[in-house]
Amino acid sequence: MQNVLHLDPEARDLFLEARAAAERPLSPLAERDRQIFVLRLERWFQNLVDGLRPVYGRRPDFRTFVVGLCREMAEAYAQRPEALKELDLERDLTPDWFQRESMLGYVFYVDRFAGTLRGVRDRLDYLTELGATYLHLMSTLEAREGPNDGGYAIRDYRQIEPALGDRDDLQETCTVLREKGVSVCIDLVLNHCADQHDWARRALAGEQRYQDYFYMYEDRGAPDAYERTLPEIFPDMAPGSFTYQPEIDRWVWTTFHEYQWDLNWSNPQVFLEIVRSMLDLANLGVEVFRLDAVAFLWKRVGTNCQNQPEVHDLLQGLRACSKIATPAVAHKAEAIVSPDDLIHYFGTGRRYGKVSNIAYHNSLMVQFWSALASRDTRLMTHTLREFPRTPTSIAWGTYVRGHDDIGWAITDQDASAVGLDAHAHRAFLSDFYSGRFPGSHARGRVFGFNPRTQDRRISGTTASLAGLEKALETGDERLVALSIERILLGHALILGFGGIPLLYMGDELGMRNDYGYEHEPHELGDNRWMHRPRMDWRAAELRDREGTVEERLFHGVRRMVRARSRTPHLHASYATDVLDIGHPHVFAYARPHPLGTMVALLNFSEQVQTVNADVLTSYGIEQPYDQIQQTFVGVEGGVLTLTPYQRYWLI
Ligand code: GLC
Repeated sequence: MQNVLHLDPEARDLFLEARAAAERPLSPLAERDRQIFVLRLERWFQNLVDGLRPVYGRRPDFRTFVVGLCREMAEAYAQRPEALKELDLERDLTPDWFQRESMLGYVFYVDRFAGTLRGVRDRLDYLTELGATYLHLMSTLEAREGPNDGGYAIRDYRQIEPALGDRDDLQETCTVLREKGVSVCIDLVLNHCADQHDWARRALAGEQRYQDYFYMYEDRGAPDAYERTLPEIFPDMAPGSFTYQPEIDRWVWTTFHEYQWDLNWSNPQVFLEIVRSMLDLANLGVEVFRLDAVAFLWKRVGTNCQNQPEVHDLLQGLRACSKIATPAVAHKAEAIVSPDDLIHYFGTGRRYGKVSNIAYHNSLMVQFWSALASRDTRLMTHTLREFPRTPTSIAWGTYVRGHDDIGWAITDQDASAVGLDAHAHRAFLSDFYSGRFPGSHARGRVFGFNPRTQDRRISGTTASLAGLEKALETGDERLVALSIERILLGHALILGFGGIPLLYMGDELGMRNDYGYEHEPHELGDNRWMHRPRMDWRAAELRDREGTVEERLFHGVRRMVRARSRTPHLHASYATDVLDIGHPHVFAYARPHPLGTMVALLNFSEQVQTVNADVLTSYGIEQPYDQIQQTFVGVEGGVLTLTPYQRYWLI
């Protein structure tokens, strides 16, 4: 019944062998399920092989590897619960499920938000009140004991962090949420595992099989050669990219902390191990994997060892595995890289649309903070206009803040195109957000100062960076109001840009910096902890008390969430056209849609601004209606007026 003609001859041959191997574990399956699996295998097989061939194709064991992989996928499908198989079918039919205008992500550390996985279920009312349909549960998998980089040093990809619960709890949580239409996302840390992972322990004990899971060197030759062009990720906390292990007299590649050992993806066993874990977690009900630190998966001497083409091949391979065995699942790439590199995570050229479903729009986030500090949208407009078109099948993950620092990913070309010196502008932003710049409203701190490049990244919560912390201290209601408007402006941007907005826990209540990390031995020295506070449930209660900061923010955000789900123009399959309206303080873009175009206008200054209404009429908007406020907007004398930090979504 299969039509294998679309496969290239080599892949066809391999497919027939893989299918034969895959059909065996499928024997306990109903005939209909077996047929469905084989259809999917055939449908995605070329994608799979095209991803794996450039990376592993020259190995003599390539065929065995691919056949073994297909057998594993069949095994995982045979284990897949019925409810998830139904979800698979549903999503075969609605592949745009994650692109919809009703999607809203909410991101939090499970322990800091709700104590445990079970606790998350108890907080469901809060989450649905906000409109969340997608929860990124951070630090869910078992991390190493002691320092673990906020859970990003995994000791066991199959186990849950014991303090949060166990596998049954994750499964139960996913089931309860799924029944309410809420999808669970967890991290899959791909670049490294903990030094306490069984693979690392066995490597340390001298087992060659496991030493091959990592990059290990007998002397400094290779490490020195690589380090000539390797940037430092944590220059102050964890300098260098290699760690000496006296037990085995080897240098181990450790891009991040010395306890995070980089996995050697040139070894197909590593690919297999990760797929096994990924499918296993998907069978518990995880619907989105956030693929952590993917830019670093492939190393090449003479480069910065980021964004190498093999990374995109590997991601395409992983993506195909999910499509075959657990098709309800989507992949989100965490590649915090510059605009030119970012686009490849959706797939370009022969990989177009095949690499990941979702990727963080790091540039949008950086440009938001940059324009907010300078009150000038020209760099933002230019940079975002230069972005290449993305495939229609993907979604940006848009965000104002996350759990990491902000790095000023602004290129020299983009800066000079608008008459800025990139280095000076980045320095200004660091000064501004660390509060050093005269008149700055921000209360952030410098993270990861690199004395060699003078690079300074920034930590701090949205509220503290937007001025709320300082304003509340002064007690000046005008300043409080302005900072609330800034926070709402950021949310109007991420909710109305197109993509999946990822709200970061506490931002909807204006939670300020938590300086408690200074007293925690594992956190001291990593000031990212100041923007990872514990959920303030007392503040959450204030959301219904009129006039409180919490009420103004929570309801301001929720109003836009609701407006968003009434606005089909925001389905992620439609493109965003950033407009150059020649205004230095207003950011404008259009979302063309068969129903008519939506034009967004965002005022990035604390002054009233006017915009020529031609921008609207050119899209056929004669009587602008604002989706956020649900009112018509007056145009007087051919101009539209925006109050300080005002935002419009006009149709
Ligand atoms: C990602 C995480 C970050 C972590 C790093 C290393 O960037 O978001 O928190 O430090 O990966 O795993």
